[in-house]
Amino acid sequence: MDILFRKNEISGDTALIVGVYEDLALSKTAKKIDEQVNGSLAKALKIAGFSGKIGDLYDFIALDSLPVKRLVCVGLGKKNAVDELAAQQIGARAANALLTSGETTVAFAVDDLPAAPIGFGAKIASYRFTKHKTVFKKPVTVKEFHIMTDKAQIAQSRYEPYFAVAKGIHTARDLVNEPANAVTPAAFAKRAEELQKYGLMTEIYTPDQLRAKGLNMMLGVAQGSVNPPRLVVVQWRGCPNDKNTHVVLVGKGVTFDSGGISLKPAKGMEDMKEDLAGAATALGTLQTLAMRKAKVNAAAVMAMVENLPSGTAQRPGDIVKSLSGITVEVVNTDAEGRLILGDALWYAQERFKAPVVIDLATLTGAIVVALGTRYAGLFTNSDELGARLEKAAADSGEKVWRMPMDDEFDEQIESDIADIRNTSNAGRAGGSITAAAFLKRFVMPETKWAHLDIAGVALQEKNAPLTPKGGSGYGVRLLNRYIQDNLEK
Ligand code: BES
Ligand code: MN
Ligand code: ZN
Repeated sequence: MDILFRKNEISGDTALIVGVYEDLALSKTAKKIDEQVNGSLAKALKIAGFSGKIGDLYDFIALDSLPVKRLVCVGLGKKNAVDELAAQQIGARAANALLTSGETTVAFAVDDLPAAPIGFGAKIASYRFTKHKTVFKKPVTVKEFHIMTDKAQIAQSRYEPYFAVAKGIHTARDLVNEPANAVTPAAFAKRAEELQKYGLMTEIYTPDQLRAKGLNMMLGVAQGSVNPPRLVVVQWRGCPNDKNTHVVLVGKGVTFDSGGISLKPAKGMEDMKEDLAGAATALGTLQTLAMRKAKVNAAAVMAMVENLPSGTAQRPGDIVKSLSGITVEVVNTDAEGRLILGDALWYAQERFKAPVVIDLATLTGAIVVALGTRYAGLFTNSDELGARLEKAAADSGEKVWRMPMDDEFDEQIESDIADIRNTSNAGRAGGSITAAAFLKRFVMPETKWAHLDIAGVALQEKNAPLTPKGGSGYGVRLLNRYIQDNLEK
């Protein structure tokens, strides 16, 4: 669905959406229509119990007296209280109202509301992953979503950066939604390469190169699968005269997590195609930065592997030497994310020496138990970075919740025969925190580091206004916002 901005013009064949505030305060265009039907619009809404709250909808179909083909009223909430995030919600609800209605073009008269975030909300709400479907029950029919505003030109230019964010989100969603037979580590690398058309630089490292470098934790996880691993490094250099890299995103990219020899139960295992969501979000964010030509130098380091059991698979109890030199006892092959991230974090820091490193990972089931499906767990060694990410979360609508991250947990990952082990020696208690404690061992003291555990938020089981069920693209908005507000020149 395309978002187009144009000036307010309606005719008899328009499928029109208008806004109504709480207490039935009509927006400008709603009032105009109401006058043309002698006040019966307001009367009908009152009888229908229309509240005007965000989320409230009323669909008038084929009323002869209406000056349009079809009219939908959407709630706008309290008058003068439509901020950035409310506008996104309103756009999403307006788009969803007629998305599968059979209409191909719809027009939303937004009057003086912020048009660009409304367009963004509509755009990301209209996302569907239909690539593998040949039969459709309720296809999206709307091709053009017209946003009618007096300042169409200004709205169009304000929408451009939002469009970049939407495209980054859609890339991340696509990669999570694709099954593991479609997105192997090599296939992911190829997609990253395709994004070079936006000005990104992509490097892809094969198993031989990883062996030469010494990313043995990553290779150990990958060794059970016939689909070989890839380390994918993508850079956006928006400040070409500056040699420094200002931020590195490190992504967990397990294209399928069966658990390996420590095999997961069958129930729900299909969801483990989502285990590359951290890498997908890192890549989507870089795409967004490139598309909006952000004045920042950013890199993404994505560790792509498939975790499968086989005769060549890593065994519980194996000891591997990480890139950092730390030796690790692999007690449970299902705690694979921290293994690949340990190497990827070390590589990222040695290579780029960036002051800020943020990793994203569907790391633990425990974070889903702790925080549910809307909050990501935030772990950091820097209160300042933590506060900045919390601010970006509040402003972008992608929520985080700060989790503890102190030395208290370090002894739980001590191993009897290696330096550390990949699971806690204290059972399941605080499973997300011990995972973070493991990652911390691969963070250099000078690095401001944050870890986002996105296991609960990456794949949604239910439709929400801005996020149809499936891959959510969580993190693109949050990180784009963090970078925009804190790192751009
Ligand atoms: N990929 C999983 C975590 C996960 C769980 C992601 C649910 C998305 C939804 C991770 O690799 C894993 O298996 N973690 C184990 C760790 C345990 C073996 C210490 C877990 O959480 O059970
Ligand atoms: Mn696992
Ligand atoms: Zn995993």
